[in-house]
Amino acid sequence: MPDLEVRPYSTAVGAEVLGVDLSQPLDNATWAAIQDAFHKHLVLFFRDQDLTPEEQIAFSRHFGDLEDYPYVHGIDGHPELIEIVKTPDEVRNFGHDWHADMTFREQPPLGAVLYAIEIPPVGGDTLFANMYLAWETLSDGMKAMLSQVRGLHDSSDPSYHSQNFAGMSMREKEGGKRQVTAHPFSQVHPVTGRTSLMISPSYCFEIEGMTPDESRMILEHLKAHATQDIFSCRFRWKPGSVVVWDNRCLMHQALEDDLGAMFGGQGFRRVMRRATIRN
Ligand code: SIN
Repeated sequence: MPDLEVRPYSTAVGAEVLGVDLSQPLDNATWAAIQDAFHKHLVLFFRDQDLTPEEQIAFSRHFGDLEDYPYVHGIDGHPELIEIVKTPDEVRNFGHDWHADMTFREQPPLGAVLYAIEIPPVGGDTLFANMYLAWETLSDGMKAMLSQVRGLHDSSDPSYHSQNFAGMSMREKEGGKRQVTAHPFSQVHPVTGRTSLMISPSYCFEIEGMTPDESRMILEHLKAHATQDIFSCRFRWKPGSVVVWDNRCLMHQALEDDLGAMFGGQGFRRVMRRATIRN
C-alpha cells in the first residue's frame, strides 16, 4: 500500500492528499490511489510541494496530455504552463466568477493543475462546487426541461482578457475569434458514469430557443442551486499548495476579496502556475 492518506475536505467535494512528494516519479500504487481519490472527490489538495516547471508538467501528464491556454502566453520554455498573477493594486482576479474551464469549446479540458507560488497572508481562496450533486438534486421536472435544450457557451469578445490583468502575459482568446458552442445541460462522466450539471456562468448566458429573459431567469436559478454552500468547499492556499480538479464535474471560482485593493489600502499579490489537461 502507498504511504498516502486521503482526508475529505468537506462533505460534498475535495480531499487533502498527504504523504506524497509530487516532485518525484509516482509508483503505480500511488498513482492508482491518487486517481481513485480524484474520481471520488473531484478536486485534490496537496500541501508543501516544491515543484519546478518540469516537475509540475510531469505530474500533470499523469492525467493526460497538456494543452496551451487560449488567452495567456505560456511561460518561457514551457508553453503548456501559464502564470496567473494578481498585482497588489488589482481588484479583479483571473477566474473570478463561477465557471468550468473553456466550456465555449467543443471539448473543454479534462482538468487543471494549479501550483501556488505567492499567496497573500489572508484572502485569495478558491471555491469548488460539485456538479454531480447539483444535477442529482434538481427536481425531475427541471431535469426533464433541461434535457430538451442546450446552453450556449460563448468565449465573448476575444480581446476582453487582453485588456485586463496587468501582471499577466495575455493574448487574444482563440486567436481573436469568438467561439460559441452549444452543450447539453447534463453530461455523463466517462470514468464514474455519474451525471453532472453543465453550466458555466462565466461563459453560458443563453439557452437555445429561449428569450434573453427566460435564459437569464433559468441560468441564475441553476447557478444559485449549483453553488450552494452544501455542494462546495473553500480552499485556503499556502505557498507550495498544489490543486488538481476535474473540469468535467466541477466548477470553481477564485474569490475576489482583496479589500485593500478595492478600497485604496494595501492590496495583495497572488501568483499561481497552471497546467491545463486536454480531454
Ligand atoms: C482559474 O480559474 O484557473 C484560476 C483559479 C485560481 O487562481 O484560484
